[in-house]
Amino acid sequence: MSVTIENPRSPYTRPRVGGLNIEKWGWIYMRVSGVVLVVLIFGHLFVNLMLGTGVHQIDFAFVGGKWSDPFWQWWDTIMLWLAMIHGANGMRTIVNDYVRKVQVARVLKVALFASAAILIILGTLVAFTFDPCPAGAPADLVASFCPVS
Ligand code: HEM
Repeated sequence: MSVTIENPRSPYTRPRVGGLNIEKWGWIYMRVSGVVLVVLIFGHLFVNLMLGTGVHQIDFAFVGGKWSDPFWQWWDTIMLWLAMIHGANGMRTIVNDYVRKVQVARVLKVALFASAAILIILGTLVAFTFDPCPAGAPADLVASFCPVS
């Protein structure tokens, strides 16, 4: 039995969207977002786990305090967007590489896109609208550090 391997130099048309070579830009995105994610993820872990009393300081008030500062709102939002798009695009590559059935691959890629989009939208909303002490909430439902109105 013999197997014919396609000539790697044979012409291959890469998918283009509006003149853009999306596979090339997806490849570049993985490298660039990877470098930025190293800074964002290790900065996130260092601040949450190494500074102050470390892991013992993490509670509702700690998160509320961080998200009252636009710096951490943007830090976490950029980390969320970069990591979700990076993870979803990486999974898309794995689906392209390993899933043989075109219909199954399509369903998986639609599911990947939808779950990434939903998590990005919800996460961004939470980071920018989180209010640890909502005005008018019943006193027994808000955190102990909130001024009871
Ligand atoms: C420290 C931060 C990170 C760095 C430096 C990094 C770097 C990379 C690079 C360079 C690739 C491309 C590999 C290739 O094309 O052969 C990649 C692929 C991938 N990354 Fe990341 N990444 C990071 C964080 C993440 C996170 C947080 C996720 C999940 C949300 C993730 C999920 C993936 C997946 C699923 C792939 C595809 C793997 C494959 O093609 O076999 N990565 N990563």
